[in-house]
Amino acid sequence: MRIGVFDSGLGGLGIARAIMERLPEYDYLYLGDTKRVPYGNRSQQTIHEFTAQALNFLFGNECQIIILACNTASAESLRKSQQEYLPQNYPDRRVLGVIIPAVEAAAEAAERKVGVIATASTIESGAYLRELNRQCPRFEVVQNPAPLLVPVIENDGLKYLEPILADYLEPLQTCKSLILGCTHYCLIKEQVRKLFRGTVISQDEVVPEKLADYLARHPEHDGKLAKRGQRRYCVTDLTGSYRRFAHRLMDQEIELELVAL
Ligand code: DGL
Repeated sequence: MRIGVFDSGLGGLGIARAIMERLPEYDYLYLGDTKRVPYGNRSQQTIHEFTAQALNFLFGNECQIIILACNTASAESLRKSQQEYLPQNYPDRRVLGVIIPAVEAAAEAAERKVGVIATASTIESGAYLRELNRQCPRFEVVQNPAPLLVPVIENDGLKYLEPILADYLEPLQTCKSLILGCTHYCLIKEQVRKLFRGTVISQDEVVPEKLADYLARHPEHDGKLAKRGQRRYCVTDLTGSYRRFAHRLMDQEIELELVAL
C-alpha cells in the first residue's frame, strides 16, 4: 500500500517533495486535479465532490493514507471525508489534512497574534479560525485572502510578486507569526520571509515531521505501507506548461501520467 498525496493541481508537489525527502523509503502516489484547478474560489459542495472523486481514485490505487496537501480541500472537505466518506467506503484507511499541522506549529511558536493567508475559499470556510480558536483560545487571529498569488506563481510571474505580496501582508504586519495556508505559498516562503517581520509557518517545513510522527504512533497503518521508494505522479490534464511547472517544483524531470477521475 502507498501514501497518497492530493492537490487541486501541481502546487502540492512542494509538500509532496518535502514529505518524500523526510520519508524516502515509502511508496507514493501523487494526484493533481489539473483539469479543474483552481479549487480556491469554488463552493464547498463542489470542492467536496471533487475531493471525494480524488479519494476514490487514490484509495482505488492502493493508498492506505491520503494527505490532502490542498488547503482548500482540507478546509472544505476533510471533516466530511473523515466523518462520512471514510466510514462508508474505507473504514480502515485514513485521510489527513494540512491545517491542523500548521495550527500546531503556530501553537508551538506561541506568538499571541497569528496571521493567515490562503485562498478565498479557505478563508471563507473559517477552518483556520476554528482550529486556531480550538487549539490556542487566547490567540488573536487576522486572516487575509490572497487570490492573486496562485496564478502569479503558476504562471512563472515571480517578478510581479513583491508589490502584490506586500499588499496582502500589510494588514498582517502587526501579527507575530504567519501561517502560509496554501500549497503554493511554500514556493514563495523566502520572499514572504523578506517582507514579513515575524515567524513564517510554511507547510513543507511542518507536514513531513507531523506525518513521520503519525506513522510512528500508528503501526496499524505504517505496517501496511510498502517501503520500496516507488513514486507515481498522476494528473487529470497534461500540457507542456504543467510539465515545466512540475519540473521546477521537483527540481528534476518527473513522469506525469494522465488519468481520469
Ligand atoms: N491547492 C490550493 C490550496 O492549497 C491552491 C490552488 C487552488 O486554488 O486550487 O488551497
